[in-house]
Amino acid sequence: MSETRTGIAFAARGITKSFGPVRALRGVELELRRGEVTALMGENGAGKSTLLKIITGDYQPDDGVLELDGSPVVFAGPGASRASGVRVIAQEPEIVPHVSVAENIFIGSLGRLGYKRSELLERAAAALDDWGFARVIRPELIGSTLSPAQRQIVEIMRALISEPEVICFDEPTSSLGDDEVAILFAVIRRLRDQGVAIGYVSHRMAEIFQLADRITVLRDGGLVGTEAAADIDDEGLVRMMVGRDLTQFFQREAVTPGEVVLELIGVSNEFVDDISLTVRAGEVVGIAGLVGAGRSELMKTIVGDFPLTAGELRVSGTARRFRSPADSVAAGIGFAPEERKAEALLLQRTVRDNMALAMLRKLSRWIFVRSHAERALAAEYITRMRVRTPSAEQIVGTLSGGNQQKVVLARWLATGPKLLLLDEPTRGVDVGAKSEIYTIIDELARSGVAVLVVSSELPEVIGISDRIYVMAHGHITGEVPSRGASEESILALAMEEEPTFS
Ligand SMILES: Nc1ncnc2c1ncn2[C@@H]1O[C@H](COP(=O)(O)OP(=O)(O)OP(=O)(O)O)[C@@H](O)[C@H]1O
Ligand SMILES: [Mg+2]
Repeated sequence: MSETRTGIAFAARGITKSFGPVRALRGVELELRRGEVTALMGENGAGKSTLLKIITGDYQPDDGVLELDGSPVVFAGPGASRASGVRVIAQEPEIVPHVSVAENIFIGSLGRLGYKRSELLERAAAALDDWGFARVIRPELIGSTLSPAQRQIVEIMRALISEPEVICFDEPTSSLGDDEVAILFAVIRRLRDQGVAIGYVSHRMAEIFQLADRITVLRDGGLVGTEAAADIDDEGLVRMMVGRDLTQFFQREAVTPGEVVLELIGVSNEFVDDISLTVRAGEVVGIAGLVGAGRSELMKTIVGDFPLTAGELRVSGTARRFRSPADSVAAGIGFAPEERKAEALLLQRTVRDNMALAMLRKLSRWIFVRSHAERALAAEYITRMRVRTPSAEQIVGTLSGGNQQKVVLARWLATGPKLLLLDEPTRGVDVGAKSEIYTIIDELARSGVAVLVVSSELPEVIGISDRIYVMAHGHITGEVPSRGASEESILALAMEEEPTFS
């Protein structure tokens, strides 16, 4: 593509789509222009992913048309758009587990390429290098060993090597670290300069304003409007998305903490080294750090997923050693892990079942009383967290990504633990629900729960916690009070090469 063409490369016009009683899209319009990034925004369940699946041919619209270069097109089945140069980077890429990154990247063209392994590896290495990903992924790695970020990169490379005319990303950065995000943004800018038409879904405002030329907003399956990014600010965008003003970013008020609920003394294992920390009743303690710093591993070590090789873990003053997460639940510890789908949800069960799951012990053993209590609980959290679902009896697997996360979180928030561990609690969650989650965490702490929260979003971790431990390379590199903490000071600790103490 030497010369940059302009104009509308792809359009979706009057798109309507229902799933049974759920009207996922109602007469939506989206235009993707050559050499531009069009952001697609809206609350969880607004219909963004559904629209992208219609663009690929995975779903057929009930009404409306797709246009490629101004002419109507029909993409008749899953992935049918690919042949026409229209690619969508899925939220959850499918990776073949037993073969290499190289084979995974060229999976669509293995037949044509003749499948010579050394040649594939070479081609993959060259492509990864060309697009800047060589630093974070190697072509000979095996599919099953890939991190979520690497899986996402494979999915992106698959699209790039096909030289698409139109490319859409569905929350691509939700599984990427800062490093990988920077590479992805460079990729997107390069595609834009080449004249590719780009669609971009994200809940992160900062990204939108860095990348987007135009912003299309959906609400409840309907089109709110499209604005030039230069003509709108954060607040205006939030108002378009949620249809109301949101209160300013959450800032937790100072508290007087109670007894020490969790204490780690020199805890070490394969993943973390010499970790000492405390969390008191009524306190919200943040853990910041870059991807790979060992934050999630630390949480899993606390709940007994990974054994300790040295050090001591105390809960309310008593030395404990959990052999499994079930053990830690029994000790009053709630844990909402990062990979919610894989680790935490029963996708085939209802919203109510999933929310009640962690409470079985607490709810009455009388079936009748229990189902009543479950229903009340589900109703409360569906309302509070604005879970977009037709009812509590909906199968969780059919909810939008962000709404699934709210269900997992509701479950742990409702268990009434004395210690709550939250790993990236607002990842993939829209702005309205985020502020509700902050409020719930704050209320839990006020009621005496000790909360330990991992978050990659610095404004978030500063806003919701009382103190922050910063991790790098499996160590704690520093501890800072949240009041007055700057993003820069935390980043400096997060990027430290070696710990300041041993
Ligand atoms: N296969 C399905 N069966 C039933 N309902 C579905 C299905 N797919 C999507 N929906 C519903 O359609 C609506 C739109 O979902 P969609 O996944 O498009 O939202 P989204 O805007 O991508 O949200 P998020 O930001 O949470 O990813 C939701 O109410 C969802 O529950
Ligand atoms: Mg989605």
